[in-house]
Amino acid sequence: VEDCDAAELTRRFGSPLYVLSESKLRRNVRRYHDAFAAHWPVGPVRILPAIKANPSLAARRVLSQEGAGCDVFGEAELHAALAGGTDPALISVNGSFKTDALVRRAVELGARVTIDSADELELAERAGRELGRTALVRVRVKPWVGIEDLESDLHRGFSIATALHAAKFGVPEPDVLDVGRRAAASPHVDLVGVHFHSGRHTAELRLWEEIGRAYADYVGLLMRAWAGWAPREIDCGGGFPTRRDPLRRRSPDHRGRPPAPALEAYADALATSLLAGLREHGLDPDGIVLELEPGRGIYGDAGVHLTTVRQVKAAEGPVSWRWIGVDTSALFLTDTMGSEAWFEPIVCERADDPPTQVADIVGITCLSDRIAPDAQLPEVEPGDVVAFLETGAYQESRAPNFNALPRPATVLVSGADAELVKRADTVEEVFARDLVPERLLSASPSG
Ligand SMILES: Cc1ncc(COP(=O)(O)O)c(C=O)c1O
Repeated sequence: VEDCDAAELTRRFGSPLYVLSESKLRRNVRRYHDAFAAHWPVGPVRILPAIKANPSLAARRVLSQEGAGCDVFGEAELHAALAGGTDPALISVNGSFKTDALVRRAVELGARVTIDSADELELAERAGRELGRTALVRVRVKPWVGIEDLESDLHRGFSIATALHAAKFGVPEPDVLDVGRRAAASPHVDLVGVHFHSGRHTAELRLWEEIGRAYADYVGLLMRAWAGWAPREIDCGGGFPTRRDPLRRRSPDHRGRPPAPALEAYADALATSLLAGLREHGLDPDGIVLELEPGRGIYGDAGVHLTTVRQVKAAEGPVSWRWIGVDTSALFLTDTMGSEAWFEPIVCERADDPPTQVADIVGITCLSDRIAPDAQLPEVEPGDVVAFLETGAYQESRAPNFNALPRPATVLVSGADAELVKRADTVEEVFARDLVPERLLSASPSG
């Protein structure tokens, strides 16, 4: 990882271990900016990495130094973004069923509130009035993305078009039309733009072309309904796959697929179709800010997860099977469970050895815990360190304490330097929230 030896990192910081590369984070955020700026010449491009993907405050500091904004979901993530040095003006406050306190805090800070229902406009209006500030709001919308022949990777069995609308997010029609009229009538609210986030439904480029077109059509619809209004910012959310695109890759219909297209191709597909569509609807796009909220796109390939082999087992019959038991769990690489992700395993000190076996890499919990089934591996011995690639997004942030397991630490690497940026849980911390009533403390039932 950068100039650090992965196995050495586990000896120094413990195993299992999440590792983030600082220079990769910096390169990713710059690359996102430049890729979209190349196809959005009409106004500024801002990158607002979604902190849910990795709420490491040190990683967030890195992104803040790069001038990135932040997509936050709820109060705790707003706290994290601020603690990580994010400029409040570059924060988009998302969230389902936002509380009064969250909206008020956002308005007080001058952050943008991305509203998810007509009720939230009322909260923003009231906060603006009472605080003597203008509440900056964007409306989260759900354009009809007419891709009905493509199944969603996120919601199997649904077309992407339906999956996007079945999601709870966004102000549904017809309420959305009311939002603009009410915002226009209020001196305490400025409806600065629109927001749309699809999620990672597919790696196919044509989704993004379609999203750009659908989004422009929706903006056109709103402009006609809200005569005199035009967006000053358009936020297209996240959902862009990374090149290795681990999601679904262990399912039979995704295994062996070619890598996802490069980020530059997604940027071209989305920004070009959006811009053309806006012009077709008679909107002069000059000065409109384009915002993106990549989560996995910024953090995913900036992270690896390191684990140490504890045991190698093989059964000759009645079913032949091989297991490589490691000291981590699929629960610490949670997309291996819900989203059938394949995080490529590399046996660090044998990376150049040819594969000689097919085995399941399995974790330490009482679940079947198949982190990498049918992995083709070189000879492996207890003590070897295995790196799972592209695990920087959503794995650490979703790790639970099942089997009372302490969650692993995170290390930030920069060149030859490595620093602990999140320590592992202790067993005491796993139980720190437990309260045992006094009456249960005696050895036998009272009474
Ligand atoms: C509003 C919003 N923006 C951005 C993201 C980041 O998505 P991704 O990590 O797929 O890029 C999410 C993820 O759920 C989200 O809900």
